[in-house]
Amino acid sequence: MTAVNLGLPARPAGSNALGAPGASAPSTAGRPDVPGLVDRFGRVARDLRVSVTEKCSLRCTYCMPAEGLPSIPREQLLTAAEIGRLVGIGARDLGITEVRFTGGEPLMRADLAEIVGLSADAAPGVDLSITTNGIGLDHRIRSLVDAGLTRVNVSLDTVDRAHFASLTRRDRLPAVLAGIRAAHDAGLTPLKVNAVLMRETLAGAPDLLAWAIENDCRLRFIEQMPLDADHNWARDNMVPAAELLDVLGTRFTLIEKGRDDPSAPAEEWFVNGGPATVGIIASVTRSFCSACDRTRITAEGTVRSCLFGDQETDLRGLLRGGADDSEIARWWRGAMWNKQAGHGIDSATFAPPQRSMGAIGG
Ligand code: GTP
Ligand code: 5AD
Ligand code: SF4
Repeated sequence: MTAVNLGLPARPAGSNALGAPGASAPSTAGRPDVPGLVDRFGRVARDLRVSVTEKCSLRCTYCMPAEGLPSIPREQLLTAAEIGRLVGIGARDLGITEVRFTGGEPLMRADLAEIVGLSADAAPGVDLSITTNGIGLDHRIRSLVDAGLTRVNVSLDTVDRAHFASLTRRDRLPAVLAGIRAAHDAGLTPLKVNAVLMRETLAGAPDLLAWAIENDCRLRFIEQMPLDADHNWARDNMVPAAELLDVLGTRFTLIEKGRDDPSAPAEEWFVNGGPATVGIIASVTRSFCSACDRTRITAEGTVRSCLFGDQETDLRGLLRGGADDSEIARWWRGAMWNKQAGHGIDSATFAPPQRSMGAIGG
């Protein structure tokens, strides 16, 4: 029988993760005694990404299996209060300056506004944003902004309705466009749109860019990474940044602008002299791992130091076992000290991680 990888670790977090009852803290041998989330390669994580659910209203082929990811039992998900507490520890004790809530699809959590509100209380002044597919955002935007949300990024791969339906396995383009409009009208700018580069939508890339400029969105194309639950990714089939630049060059003049900051994943180009730009997140062909400033918390409350690193450290067990903030911060620092150098996609021994993108959150 062929094993089907549904995108979650084979054993539930907590049973195989460091931090489970009886486990010892990650080794910190050689780590300097500093409060921040430093690693062995001299990087410092200041950007926290928190996945709040594995559920999603779409089934993008580069991310989710058709049937969705197996449901995480409710009691294994971090509660809004637990997320707020971790965000507070991150900001106060560990130097976190930005927090991004992801999923799956973060809007699938009915208590997302509560998560944002508790995080805003725990980490005043910290930028709080979501990366979302936009479905239902029009109905939720007011409560999210009132709770303290500062920005949104929306995933949208094509403005062709038939292509959208086949790529996401759902005919929901109008709902996504309504969500984008609502976020824009609420003044959440810059509003970034993420498009994963796929062979079937490449020819439509100039149309998507024209649409983004017309609708005041900052479009970024993303090279597809081997994080699909179906394990169909193939290096020979992915669209590299260079090929996209050729396609966009048939309709636009592009001039290289560089990154917004040294650890931003996207490289930007001015379109037709500016001020409009287009970004490319070339994780595969122009890897930016050496400048990575990210730390992640999964929906089940483990620290994941790298998108591609299956070694996770359980904080939920500590939270529920009565640990104080300084103990939790100590484990989190240890997890990050052991962060791997990079994704290793080019290595002959590369194997995709057990969690697919839908279970990490991008
Ligand atoms: P901004 O601060 O708004 O620019 O956000 P962002 O681009 O960091 O976040 P977003 O959630 O929009 O992420 C866009 C895409 O970048 C994700 O979907 C991933 O494909 C990719 N990405 C984000 N973080 C990482 C990372 O740590 N490593 C790699 N290789 N890719 C990442
Ligand atoms: N490679 C690159 N990006 C991906 N995303 C989902 N799956 C992949 C993949 N295999 C992106 C989505 C969204 C974010 C949550 O992750 O487009 O912007
Ligand atoms: Fe859902 Fe986002 Fe994955 Fe698409 S990329 S299936 S919208 S989590």
